[in-house]
Amino acid sequence: MDKSSAAKRIEELTQLLHHYNHMYYVEARQEVSDEEFDRLMKELESLEAGYPDLRRPDSPSQRVGGDITEEFETVRHARPMLSLTNTYSRGELEDWDRRVRKGVGDSFTYVCELKYDGVAISLTYEDGVLRRAVTRGDGVQGDDVTANVKTINSIPLRLKGEGYPENFEIRGEVLMYREPFQKFNQQRLERGEQPFANPRNATAGTLKLQKSSLVAQRPLECFLYSLAGNNLSAQSHYQNLINANAWGFKIPKDIRRCKSLEQVWQFIREYQEGRERLPFDIDGVVVKVDRLSQQEALGYTAKSPRWAIAYKYPAQQGITRLKTISYQVGRTGAVTPVANLEPVQLAGTVVKRASLHNEDIIKQLDVRPGDSVVVEKGGDIIPKIVAVNSHLRDIESPPVQFVQKCPQCHAPLRRNPGEAAHYCPNHNHCPPQIKGKIEHFISRKAMDILSLGEGKVELLYDQNRIRNAADLYDLKEEDLLGLEKTYTDPLKGTSRTVSFKKKTVQNILKGLEQSKTAGFDRVLFALGIRYVGQTVARKLAEHFGSMDQLMEASFQQLTQVNEIGERIAHSVKDFFAHPENKKLVERLKNHGLKMEMETKPQEENKNILKGKRFIASGKLENYSREEIKKEVEKYGGSYVSAVSARLDFFIAGENVGPKKLEKVKEMNVTILNEKEFLEMINEP
Ligand code: IVH
Repeated sequence: MDKSSAAKRIEELTQLLHHYNHMYYVEARQEVSDEEFDRLMKELESLEAGYPDLRRPDSPSQRVGGDITEEFETVRHARPMLSLTNTYSRGELEDWDRRVRKGVGDSFTYVCELKYDGVAISLTYEDGVLRRAVTRGDGVQGDDVTANVKTINSIPLRLKGEGYPENFEIRGEVLMYREPFQKFNQQRLERGEQPFANPRNATAGTLKLQKSSLVAQRPLECFLYSLAGNNLSAQSHYQNLINANAWGFKIPKDIRRCKSLEQVWQFIREYQEGRERLPFDIDGVVVKVDRLSQQEALGYTAKSPRWAIAYKYPAQQGITRLKTISYQVGRTGAVTPVANLEPVQLAGTVVKRASLHNEDIIKQLDVRPGDSVVVEKGGDIIPKIVAVNSHLRDIESPPVQFVQKCPQCHAPLRRNPGEAAHYCPNHNHCPPQIKGKIEHFISRKAMDILSLGEGKVELLYDQNRIRNAADLYDLKEEDLLGLEKTYTDPLKGTSRTVSFKKKTVQNILKGLEQSKTAGFDRVLFALGIRYVGQTVARKLAEHFGSMDQLMEASFQQLTQVNEIGERIAHSVKDFFAHPENKKLVERLKNHGLKMEMETKPQEENKNILKGKRFIASGKLENYSREEIKKEVEKYGGSYVSAVSARLDFFIAGENVGPKKLEKVKEMNVTILNEKEFLEMINEP
């Protein structure tokens, strides 16, 4: 495609992708399939790779993030980012209302909004394109985090519609919804990393990451709450937000114009009760005078506007007593300490337990059984202990000794250097680990045997019918029919009966039979090897082609696979070093599960780039970025997404900057031009 057609197509794709993105992330409507969206994005990426100078700052391809930002540039705010006067009482709110009336008379409207508990951000748009995103910093100057912010899908990179000022600033709050935050934190725990205390800390930490491609993987959201500029189209704050919404910004639905303080109070009360039902954290309500001219008349103190006030909700805290600490064992063997509390009423629910995460957190808090503790309901559904009243403690009370042995199977626990979690290493014989592993094996993304869900694995385990995933395939109708057990949950006071009737049993056997058609990558994922998630399983399966090849692979061969690091390689080697795991795989194979990829791996002579890592930069004569990637992979090599010391070859196209080449040279990476690359694969 010539350059001018490419430019035209890039523009078309940009508009389409921005539109689909907006519908999905702001309007919550999906207009195209994920596949179609990915296809269009790939087309755009490959055009941009072919014509790097046609890549625009507002390109939808920027959402995936990029390489290291060495340091954030400090940027001075055009207008200082002020804070808000806080109040916790109705009396003070009434005082403020009187001051407003004194300033502008009785004819005005308030706007009530939620006070989002996130990180403030200022976005600058020029000619409808996002140019800059800066953190609040000290209010006068902040960090330029544009590359990171561009990965947030609900922030428009290019505005839609018309009527937006040529140059304006919009401010808002970046945050994480509670549920994705919990999932993200859980993953951190599983990887042995420290969890974040709440969504706000996770957001702040994420915005300061130096690699925007990592930011792109974290679930950030952004709500906009204030427009600034000399040429705004509307005369009121509320109308400005409505306009901003029409230009593509995500404006919260929980916003209301109020005629009187009574209505404001009503809003505050509604959300005080309803805040738990919101999918994100708030810490209060912000009340603003609506008309911009009246805002101006009221003006500012040194720190905050006189036309706005924050009514803060009392923190959802309570004081109670820590009775005991118990320890839970998860599927991977991670041992989590849990605080058992004297029941306490917190924001409408009775709290009996709190997570203590790991040994370090227990040490930091120095919390001990019998202590009076402050519990808080924050971002996590499970409340946490935030402080200990150690002065009330019995002087004899000893510090907590973290359990040394698995509470379930009594194996001595281990803690890997540099990791926060303790593990029970008895992976194949510890009951919760066995059950957890089998439950993972049958789960939807693994072998998808849902007819075995809902407590059936637990029952089969308890009745001694299964001890590992291969045992499932030995089950016969007569082993199953009539099994029944009632389980009670002492904490919830509920009970449930699991029973195996004829139809259930038939469904289970059918499900097991059907699972034998699942591809090798799913079988590999289903084994539940630590750190081998769906994507890693697919990569390994594609690279090695079969279970036998994978089991024979050396540590080095494993780390040579694109995106497989040492941690994963160790875990894979450890897994297959266990005779029991080998036997499990052997039995699964004999039962007819797929142990090979369907499509044959590359022929021998086509594997000349095997184990080598490549990246290309600059404009290439014969290939687009997507094509060179395919070419490298066709010959068994891996194409990586960023320059690092682990790279083997750097293919330099036209116009690669001298600085970049210098950096690559320093890392001892071999630099090739396009011709040399072609010679390497024998295709001059
Ligand atoms: S308006 C001049 N509206 O609260 C102040 N701020 O204490 C303009 N915040 O740094 C801020 N939700 O990060 C405004 N609906 C909302 C808000 C909000 C949260 C934060 C913001 C600011 C802090 C001020």
